[in-house]
Amino acid sequence: MASPRAAARQPSTLSDALRERYKRDAARAAAEMIEDGMRVGLGTGTTVAHLLPAIAERGLANLRCAATSPATERAAMALGLKLVDLDELGGVDVAIDGADQIDPAAWLVKGGGGALTREKIVAAAARVFVVIASEDKAVTELAPPVPLELIRFGVRCTLATLEQAALRDLVESPDGGLIADYLGAVGDPRELSARLSATPGVIEHGLFAPEMVSVILIAGEGGVQRREGGKPLS
Ligand code: 5RP
Repeated sequence: MASPRAAARQPSTLSDALRERYKRDAARAAAEMIEDGMRVGLGTGTTVAHLLPAIAERGLANLRCAATSPATERAAMALGLKLVDLDELGGVDVAIDGADQIDPAAWLVKGGGGALTREKIVAAAARVFVVIASEDKAVTELAPPVPLELIRFGVRCTLATLEQAALRDLVESPDGGLIADYLGAVGDPRELSARLSATPGVIEHGLFAPEMVSVILIAGEGGVQRREGGKPLS
Protein backbone atom coordinates (compact mmCIF):
# COMPACT_ATOMS: atom_id res chain seq x y z
CA MET A 1 0.00 0.00 0.00
CA ALA A 2 1.26 3.49 -0.80
CA SER A 3 2.46 5.43 2.24
CA PRO A 4 0.80 8.70 3.11
CA ARG A 5 2.30 11.75 1.43
CA ALA A 6 4.97 13.55 3.41
CA ALA A 7 4.48 17.15 4.47
CA ALA A 8 5.19 19.22 1.38
CA ARG A 9 7.23 22.39 1.32
CA GLN A 10 5.28 25.39 2.58
CA PRO A 11 4.68 28.26 0.13
CA SER A 12 6.80 31.39 0.58
CA THR A 13 5.36 34.36 2.46
CA LEU A 14 7.45 36.92 0.52
CA SER A 15 5.55 39.29 -1.75
CA ASP A 16 6.11 38.69 -5.47
CA ALA A 17 7.82 42.08 -5.86
CA LEU A 18 10.24 41.46 -3.01
CA ARG A 19 11.00 37.94 -4.19
CA GLU A 20 11.84 39.25 -7.66
CA ARG A 21 14.07 41.93 -6.17
CA TYR A 22 15.99 39.36 -4.14
CA LYS A 23 16.34 37.04 -7.14
CA ARG A 24 17.71 39.95 -9.16
CA ASP A 25 20.15 40.92 -6.37
CA ALA A 26 21.52 37.37 -6.17
CA ALA A 27 21.72 37.14 -9.97
CA ARG A 28 23.62 40.43 -10.27
CA ALA A 29 26.11 39.37 -7.59
CA ALA A 30 26.75 36.13 -9.50
CA ALA A 31 27.18 37.95 -12.81
CA GLU A 32 30.07 39.88 -11.20
CA MET A 33 31.92 36.59 -10.69
CA ILE A 34 32.23 36.07 -14.44
CA GLU A 35 35.45 37.08 -16.18
CA ASP A 36 35.92 37.68 -19.88
CA GLY A 37 36.92 34.57 -21.82
CA MET A 38 35.10 32.21 -19.46
CA ARG A 39 32.93 29.30 -20.51
CA VAL A 40 29.67 29.85 -18.65
CA GLY A 41 26.88 27.38 -17.86
CA LEU A 42 23.48 29.04 -17.77
CA GLY A 43 20.76 27.50 -15.59
CA THR A 44 17.01 27.68 -16.02
CA GLY A 45 14.19 29.50 -14.26
CA THR A 46 12.98 32.87 -13.09
CA THR A 47 16.13 33.66 -11.08
CA VAL A 48 18.28 32.89 -14.10
CA ALA A 49 15.99 35.20 -16.10
CA HIS A 50 17.55 38.02 -14.05
CA LEU A 51 21.04 36.62 -14.54
CA LEU A 52 21.03 36.70 -18.34
CA PRO A 53 20.61 40.50 -18.74
CA ALA A 54 23.06 41.06 -15.86
CA ILE A 55 25.68 39.06 -17.78
CA ALA A 56 24.84 40.73 -21.10
CA GLU A 57 25.15 44.20 -19.52
CA ARG A 58 28.74 43.46 -18.53
CA GLY A 59 29.63 43.54 -22.22
CA LEU A 60 32.27 40.81 -21.98
CA ALA A 61 33.16 40.12 -25.61
CA ASN A 62 34.68 36.66 -25.26
CA LEU A 63 32.18 34.69 -23.20
CA ARG A 64 30.94 31.37 -24.50
CA CYS A 65 27.83 29.94 -22.85
CA ALA A 66 26.05 26.58 -22.65
CA ALA A 67 22.35 26.64 -21.76
CA THR A 68 20.48 24.07 -19.67
CA SER A 69 17.17 24.47 -21.51
CA PRO A 70 15.76 25.69 -24.82
CA ALA A 71 14.07 28.60 -22.96
CA THR A 72 17.40 29.79 -21.53
CA GLU A 73 19.07 29.31 -24.89
CA ARG A 74 16.48 31.49 -26.63
CA ALA A 75 16.61 34.21 -23.96
CA ALA A 76 20.42 34.29 -23.91
CA MET A 77 20.65 34.48 -27.69
CA ALA A 78 18.14 37.34 -27.77
CA LEU A 79 20.47 39.24 -25.44
CA GLY A 80 23.44 38.65 -27.73
CA LEU A 81 25.23 36.04 -25.61
CA LYS A 82 27.19 33.47 -27.57
CA LEU A 83 25.73 29.96 -27.16
CA VAL A 84 27.83 26.87 -27.80
CA ASP A 85 26.96 23.17 -27.51
CA LEU A 86 28.23 21.84 -24.16
CA ASP A 87 30.45 19.17 -25.72
CA GLU A 88 31.89 21.69 -28.16
CA LEU A 89 32.66 23.96 -25.20
CA GLY A 90 34.72 21.12 -23.72
CA GLY A 91 34.06 22.17 -20.11
CA VAL A 92 32.58 24.95 -18.05
CA ASP A 93 34.47 27.48 -15.93
CA VAL A 94 31.46 28.66 -13.98
CA ALA A 95 27.85 27.50 -14.02
CA ILE A 96 25.15 29.61 -12.37
CA ASP A 97 21.68 28.33 -11.59
CA GLY A 98 18.73 28.75 -9.26
CA ALA A 99 17.29 26.25 -6.79
CA ASP A 100 13.93 25.33 -5.33
CA GLN A 101 15.30 24.55 -1.86
CA ILE A 102 18.69 24.97 -0.16
CA ASP A 103 19.36 23.32 3.18
CA PRO A 104 22.00 24.37 5.77
CA ALA A 105 24.42 21.66 4.56
CA ALA A 106 24.18 22.95 0.94
CA TRP A 107 21.98 20.15 -0.33
CA LEU A 108 19.72 21.46 -3.09
CA VAL A 109 16.40 20.48 -4.57
CA LYS A 110 16.28 21.58 -8.20
CA GLY A 111 14.13 20.87 -11.23
CA GLY A 112 11.01 22.89 -10.53
CA GLY A 113 11.25 23.97 -14.16
CA GLY A 114 11.83 20.40 -15.33
CA ALA A 115 15.39 21.01 -16.52
CA LEU A 116 17.08 18.97 -13.78
CA THR A 117 18.98 16.49 -15.94
CA ARG A 118 20.66 19.09 -18.13
CA GLU A 119 21.19 21.30 -15.07
CA LYS A 120 22.97 18.49 -13.23
CA ILE A 121 25.15 17.67 -16.25
CA VAL A 122 26.20 21.31 -16.61
CA ALA A 123 26.77 21.73 -12.85
CA ALA A 124 28.91 18.57 -12.78
CA ALA A 125 30.94 19.79 -15.76
CA ALA A 126 31.63 23.13 -14.08
CA ARG A 127 34.81 23.96 -12.22
CA VAL A 128 32.73 26.34 -10.10
CA PHE A 129 28.99 25.95 -9.56
CA VAL A 130 27.20 29.02 -8.16
CA VAL A 131 23.64 28.83 -6.85
CA ILE A 132 21.53 31.99 -6.78
CA ALA A 133 18.30 32.38 -4.83
CA SER A 134 15.95 34.64 -2.93
CA GLU A 135 15.96 33.99 0.82
CA ASP A 136 12.69 32.03 0.75
CA LYS A 137 14.57 29.15 -0.91
CA ALA A 138 16.68 28.58 2.22
CA VAL A 139 15.06 25.87 4.33
CA THR A 140 16.00 24.10 7.55
CA GLU A 141 15.10 20.72 6.05
CA LEU A 142 14.38 19.57 2.50
CA ALA A 143 10.77 18.62 1.82
CA PRO A 144 8.91 17.13 -1.13
CA PRO A 145 8.42 17.45 -4.02
CA VAL A 146 11.73 16.26 -5.44
CA PRO A 147 11.59 16.55 -9.26
CA LEU A 148 12.42 13.49 -11.35
CA GLU A 149 13.00 12.77 -15.01
CA LEU A 150 11.74 9.30 -15.99
CA ILE A 151 12.10 7.17 -19.09
CA ARG A 152 8.75 7.01 -20.93
CA PHE A 153 8.96 3.21 -21.39
CA GLY A 154 7.20 1.50 -18.49
CA VAL A 155 6.65 4.76 -16.68
CA ARG A 156 3.67 3.41 -14.72
CA CYS A 157 5.87 0.57 -13.43
CA THR A 158 8.59 3.05 -12.45
CA LEU A 159 6.03 5.15 -10.57
CA ALA A 160 4.80 2.01 -8.79
CA THR A 161 8.38 1.12 -7.79
CA LEU A 162 8.91 4.62 -6.43
CA GLU A 163 5.60 4.28 -4.54
CA GLN A 164 5.15 7.99 -3.86
CA ALA A 165 5.62 9.80 -7.14
CA ALA A 166 3.37 11.47 -9.68
CA LEU A 167 3.79 12.60 -13.26
CA ARG A 168 3.47 16.29 -14.01
CA ASP A 169 0.73 16.21 -16.67
CA LEU A 170 2.91 14.34 -19.17
CA VAL A 171 5.43 17.17 -19.31
CA GLU A 172 8.31 16.02 -21.50
CA SER A 173 11.90 17.22 -21.19
CA PRO A 174 13.80 18.35 -24.32
CA ASP A 175 15.48 14.95 -24.18
CA GLY A 176 12.19 13.01 -24.28
CA GLY A 177 11.99 12.05 -20.60
CA LEU A 178 8.86 12.55 -18.54
CA ILE A 179 8.96 14.98 -15.65
CA ALA A 180 7.54 13.72 -12.36
CA ASP A 181 7.81 14.53 -8.65
CA TYR A 182 8.79 12.28 -5.78
CA LEU A 183 6.31 13.10 -3.01
CA GLY A 184 7.59 11.00 -0.11
CA ALA A 185 9.58 12.42 2.80
CA VAL A 186 13.16 13.40 1.98
CA GLY A 187 14.70 12.35 5.31
CA ASP A 188 18.44 11.83 4.74
CA PRO A 189 18.99 13.38 1.27
CA ARG A 190 22.02 11.17 0.58
CA GLU A 191 20.00 8.02 1.22
CA LEU A 192 17.09 9.23 -0.92
CA SER A 193 19.50 10.34 -3.63
CA ALA A 194 21.05 6.84 -3.73
CA ARG A 195 17.62 5.19 -3.76
CA LEU A 196 16.30 7.37 -6.59
CA SER A 197 19.49 6.91 -8.63
CA ALA A 198 19.23 3.13 -8.20
CA THR A 199 15.60 2.93 -9.35
CA PRO A 200 15.32 1.58 -12.90
CA GLY A 201 13.54 4.09 -15.14
CA VAL A 202 14.78 7.15 -13.22
CA ILE A 203 16.99 9.16 -15.57
CA GLU A 204 17.84 11.79 -12.96
CA HIS A 205 16.52 13.33 -9.77
CA GLY A 206 16.60 16.87 -8.44
CA LEU A 207 18.71 16.31 -5.31
CA PHE A 208 22.09 18.01 -5.80
CA ALA A 209 24.74 17.04 -3.24
CA PRO A 210 26.86 19.68 -1.46
CA GLU A 211 30.00 18.41 -3.19
CA MET A 212 28.59 19.71 -6.50
CA VAL A 213 28.08 23.21 -5.09
CA SER A 214 30.86 25.82 -4.82
CA VAL A 215 29.04 28.95 -3.67
CA ILE A 216 25.47 29.86 -2.75
CA LEU A 217 24.33 33.48 -3.02
CA ILE A 218 21.12 34.07 -1.09
CA ALA A 219 19.58 37.54 -1.30
CA GLY A 220 17.28 39.06 1.30
CA GLU A 221 16.60 42.35 3.06
CA GLY A 222 20.12 42.42 4.52
CA GLY A 223 21.79 42.07 1.11
CA VAL A 224 23.41 39.08 -0.54
CA GLN A 225 24.66 36.43 1.85
CA ARG A 226 27.38 34.09 0.63
CA ARG A 227 27.55 30.46 1.77
CA GLU A 228 30.27 28.02 0.79
CA GLY A 229 29.25 24.67 -0.67
CA GLY A 230 31.23 21.46 -0.49
CA LYS A 231 33.20 21.98 -3.69
CA PRO A 232 36.44 23.95 -3.21
CA LEU A 233 36.85 27.09 -5.30
CA SER A 234 40.48 26.41 -6.27
C1 5RP B 1 14.64 24.55 -13.12
C2 5RP B 1 15.32 24.73 -11.81
C3 5RP B 1 15.31 26.09 -11.23
O1 5RP B 1 16.61 26.50 -10.98
C4 5RP B 1 14.53 26.05 -9.94
O2 5RP B 1 13.26 25.48 -10.19
C5 5RP B 1 14.35 27.46 -9.36
O3 5RP B 1 13.56 28.18 -10.24
P1 5RP B 1 13.23 29.71 -10.05
O4 5RP B 1 14.52 30.46 -10.19
O5 5RP B 1 12.24 30.02 -11.12
O6 5RP B 1 12.64 29.88 -8.68
O7 5RP B 1 15.87 23.84 -11.21
O8 5RP B 1 14.61 23.20 -13.51
